[in-house]
Parts: sequence; C-alpha cells; structure tokens
Amino acid sequence: MEDIDSFLFKFKGYYFLRPGLDIGFLETLNDFEIREDDVFIVTYPKSGTIWFQQILNLIYFDEHRKSTGNLETVFRVPYFEYPDQNGFYFLSLQIIYVYRNPKDVMCSYFHFSKKMPLPTTSTIEEFMQLFLEGKVLGSLWFDHIKGWHEHKSLFNIEFMMYEEFKKDLRGSMLKVCKFLGKELSDEDMDTVVSQAMFENMKLDPRANYDNILKDQFGIQEKGHFLRKGTIGDWKNYMTVEQNERFDKIFQKNMKDFPLKFIWDM
Ligand code: A3P
Repeated sequence: MEDIDSFLFKFKGYYFLRPGLDIGFLETLNDFEIREDDVFIVTYPKSGTIWFQQILNLIYFDEHRKSTGNLETVFRVPYFEYPDQNGFYFLSLQIIYVYRNPKDVMCSYFHFSKKMPLPTTSTIEEFMQLFLEGKVLGSLWFDHIKGWHEHKSLFNIEFMMYEEFKKDLRGSMLKVCKFLGKELSDEDMDTVVSQAMFENMKLDPRANYDNILKDQFGIQEKGHFLRKGTIGDWKNYMTVEQNERFDKIFQKNMKDFPLKFIWDM
C-alpha cells in the first residue's frame, strides 16, 4: 500500500489530488459568484463524471452534438476545483448529483488507481480497506452521498442514478432535459442518445479523456476512463466473503438512506 499523502492532501476534511491544485485557490472558491442559470454536476469519483460532462455538452452545444467543433468536454464543463480549467465557466444553480452503486465504484476505482497518480494497492482486499476508510481521492463514499443528500432541500439538487442511464438512456435523458428546462427535437435527442452511449463515447476524442491523460499525466495507453461501463462488474472481483463484509458496512452506514441502488443487471 502506498503513502496517500504523496498523492492527496486534505482540505476542510476532504481529500484532494495533489498535482495541479493549491489551497490558496480552493479558498477563493468560497467567494465564487454563482449565477441562477449555472449547472453543477456532483459526483463521487468513478460514478459517471465524464459521462455527464458529455451529456451536458451534447444537450447545450449544437456544435458538439453536430460534431462540427473539436473542443473537449472538459473545457465547457470544467472542474470547479482546478484553477487552470475554470476560465470557461458554464455552471449552474441546478445541481445534478450522479450516484452509482458503491461496489462498482470501488472496482472501477481500483483499476483506475493503478493507472493514475493515486493511492493504489495490489489487491482488491487492500483497496476495499482504503475505500471503506475514505483514504482515497473523494474521501469516504458514505459521507459524500449522505452529505449531499442532507442538503437536498437547500439547493435544487436532482439525484440521478448511473444504472438508470445504463438501463434506459433515452428515458433518463428526457428527465435531465426536463430538469434543465431544455427541449430537444426528436432528431437532436437521437443524436444525444447515440453519442452518449459507451461504445460511441469511447471513440470520441472530445469526450473520452485520452488526450487529457496523455497531455496532463503523460499516459499514452488509452481507454482508462471508459473501461467497461457496466453494472455489476464488482462480481468479477469481490469474493463472497468480501461482498458480505461490504454489505454489512453498507447497511450500517446507509440504514435510513432513502435512495435505492441497483447492484446488477
Ligand atoms: P468502469 O471503470 O466501471 O468502466 P468517472 O468519469 O466518474 O471517473 O467514472 C468512470 C466510470 O464511468 C467508468 O466505469 C466508465 O466506464 C463509466 N462511463 C463513462 N462513460 C460512460 C458511458 N457513456 N456509459 C456507461 N458508463 C460510462
């Protein structure tokens, strides 16, 4: 197991990634002026962040949908906490919180951590320990989702489930558009749905993050963000015993939590 402090630092109780971030900048975000038509995507890592960057780009920008522009998704839907990216702001007072069953999040994270400058481990058992102690970028999954959910009534937060998008992409896309007050023609909706599909997004250099990994992290190998994009991949990695242990901890932490989860297809 590697030393997490060489990859992450804590600010206000939450782990951030070391490279590219500074506390001075994070402090200035307290005064960030939010406009009424701003839109935020909130995710715990590995829950569909870049998928929703693509979805919002497709909904809001004709040239992205029609593939007449080459701008990568991250420049129109940038990360709030990265100073070099937030020049281009398109944020909102509408907040979409994307959540995914935490066993798939953990397995996705385990693979991802091996490729990135992140705390990683050689076995899923050790990674499960880090994940369940919150010693990863994003801190503790339970705190993240419960914390945002507790503030649901204070903000305009819509909770959307990764697995529902997998099961019914078009129906889910209609819900996103309704939430954002956007109406698309049937033809545009067909394009949005097609371009948001895993197989198509994986090949789209504007959306698959291969360039970002190459330019910012020197990673030449492709396909780390769009690895499998399935529901229930955890079954390929967790033993029965690990699964039972995880379930117990999940039930203890999420006892009265009202949102449902989908664990397999
Ligand atoms: P897997 O590692 O299980 O494949 P994030 O963007 O928050 O880092 O999340 C990455 C996860 O979202 C990866 O999961 C990735 O494959 C999945 N993902 C990204 N785009 C997707 C899409 N269009 N359809 C389904 N899953 C997608």
